Amino acid sequence: MNLGFPLFPEQASTMAARVDALYFFLIAVSVFFSLLISAAIVVFAFRYRRRSELERPPEIAGNLRLEMVWIIIPLGFTLVMFVWGAILYFETYSPPANSLEIHIVAKQWMWKAQHPAGRSEIDELHVPLGRPVKLLLTSQDVIHDFFVPAFRIKTDVLPGRYMTVWFEASKTGVFRLFCAEYCGTLHSGMLGRIVVVPASDYQTWLSGGTSGITMAEAGARLFQRLGCATCHGESDAARGPALAGLMGKQVRLQDGKRVIADETYIRESIINPHAKIVAGFQPVMPTFKGVVSEEGILQIISYLKSLERQEGRR
Ligand code: CUA
Repeated sequence: MNLGFPLFPEQASTMAARVDALYFFLIAVSVFFSLLISAAIVVFAFRYRRRSELERPPEIAGNLRLEMVWIIIPLGFTLVMFVWGAILYFETYSPPANSLEIHIVAKQWMWKAQHPAGRSEIDELHVPLGRPVKLLLTSQDVIHDFFVPAFRIKTDVLPGRYMTVWFEASKTGVFRLFCAEYCGTLHSGMLGRIVVVPASDYQTWLSGGTSGITMAEAGARLFQRLGCATCHGESDAARGPALAGLMGKQVRLQDGKRVIADETYIRESIINPHAKIVAGFQPVMPTFKGVVSEEGILQIISYLKSLERQEGRR
């Protein structure tokens, strides 16, 4: 049904129809109770109006059955909303294991995307149809918000942290990407296009205009160039811990705490190395703040993940 002005954005991801179903349920419940309450106000105003100057209403102490009804029914409705919403929320933010991982860096005022195979793009994101795509998002400056109405995904993009969201496009086409967090004077112009193409076209697209090296390879070069390898070698040698197989593992810190080596931990360890010292090591690592860009950090993370995969094959 096309009325000329769409009431809802197109449904272009596997999640879209499910999000809409919850939304329609919320609307239906709201409409039902709005009508019920308005009707009750009107009916009661007539039915229980004061009929004479001398009328004194009888005293009512309460009605247990009535009170149970108006507590239990709304409680039931709100619990359904809560559980339903929570299920959708956790699914939206838990990418399937076989997802294609794409890195997004937001900055005033553009979206930069880096594909693992090496190709990068600005204000555009090419994704294959019918394959789960996991986005790893961060910001280079202020808070932005990655919003694709047709996919029903929306997530804040924060500086210094990595946010994860995923989607699986269910139709080809071009869909709009908005920044949904006021981020400065050109916020409203911080737009992008998501281009969904068949999987084979995505492969073709990837091989065109690429730098010829993958993100992990670029990360490996950066790792050498910045001299990381001098301290982070194959084994837990003198100065720094070994990094192969680190991603996703638990790390024991000097103060006895344990953290998971996720993307945010790696980034912090590069920018602010003394924040978390690994047990058994000295705080000797210099900061790389200002030396390595957000894209560079993502490349290094890709490189560390590729080390992990090599580790897994052994
Ligand atoms: Cu970026 Cu608003």
